[in-house]
Amino acid sequence: MTRDIVSGGQHIHAPDDLTRLLQDIYEQAMTIKTGKVADYIPALAAVDPEQCALTLATLDGETFTVGDTQTQFSIQSVSKIFGLMLAMERLGDELWDRVKMEPSGQAFNSIVQLEWEKGIPRNPMINAGAILISDVLVSHYSASKNAVLSLVRSLCGNEAVYADHEVHESEKDHGHRNAALAHLMKSFGNIDSDVEELLDHYFWQCALSMSCENLARSFTFLANDGVCPFSKKQIMSKRDSQRINALLSTSGMYDQSGEFAFTVGVPAKSGVGGGIVAVVPDFGVISAWSPRLNEFGNSARGMFMVREVANKLGLSVY
Ligand code: DON
Repeated sequence: MTRDIVSGGQHIHAPDDLTRLLQDIYEQAMTIKTGKVADYIPALAAVDPEQCALTLATLDGETFTVGDTQTQFSIQSVSKIFGLMLAMERLGDELWDRVKMEPSGQAFNSIVQLEWEKGIPRNPMINAGAILISDVLVSHYSASKNAVLSLVRSLCGNEAVYADHEVHESEKDHGHRNAALAHLMKSFGNIDSDVEELLDHYFWQCALSMSCENLARSFTFLANDGVCPFSKKQIMSKRDSQRINALLSTSGMYDQSGEFAFTVGVPAKSGVGGGIVAVVPDFGVISAWSPRLNEFGNSARGMFMVREVANKLGLSVY
């Protein structure tokens, strides 16, 4: 482990101690039965709600896992980070003329603010912002889906990552609100590409399917100033990785971001598939998955598990 951890007054040195801690937290999480599986996308409603996984990937290459950590699930909005990474690389600072970096204080799929603010989304983590990012990708890559897929596969070291066809189609069939967001931005001149094409990219990206363990490994570079601790490759500049962490801190957990900062204290992102990734700078990544969601669209068990790991290990950055 790269840093000395104190939990409940006791130093945690051995990997076994951490495994036991995760196991305890997981068992407590399994008693939580509150929340509801996302049902506005029929393919997500069909998922077994009892599934649950918790992973901690540290920067020195150790991975601690409990539960269904190999099961692939729909990462949904967690994928917004991958899209953002590519758009930041392609557009540089110009990107920030088209999407801002402020918390929205609204639900992730809200439409009202976008009209008041003339088609410029508040941040890349709400749907409007991620749809704008999809426009950038579709406009700047000849094969935008392949660009995302090869990024994700290289980050987690798993060639088996794929986008779930059924979820993709299901999102397309029920994506009227997202289509409304895209058309509204187009009416303000903030969308370049064809709306159908960019929505197809957006829905496909949301349908990416990954395991809890893959997710934790993928984002370790954000805890390590942009360098992947496994391949030692510089994935993005230190400045850009700090900027992504800043966005995750203020907007990654939607309208629960403030509470998350208050009670957990690390940059994080959730998705309506029930996944959460939390970046602990200079330490590693905690990822959690369980499909039942609280009223903000964040996994009920996932919130509990990430909070407990962070609190027990004293990981808040504040
Ligand atoms: O756009 C949607 O509705 C979904 N495909 C993604 C939303 C999502 O994961 C929001 N997360 N909490």
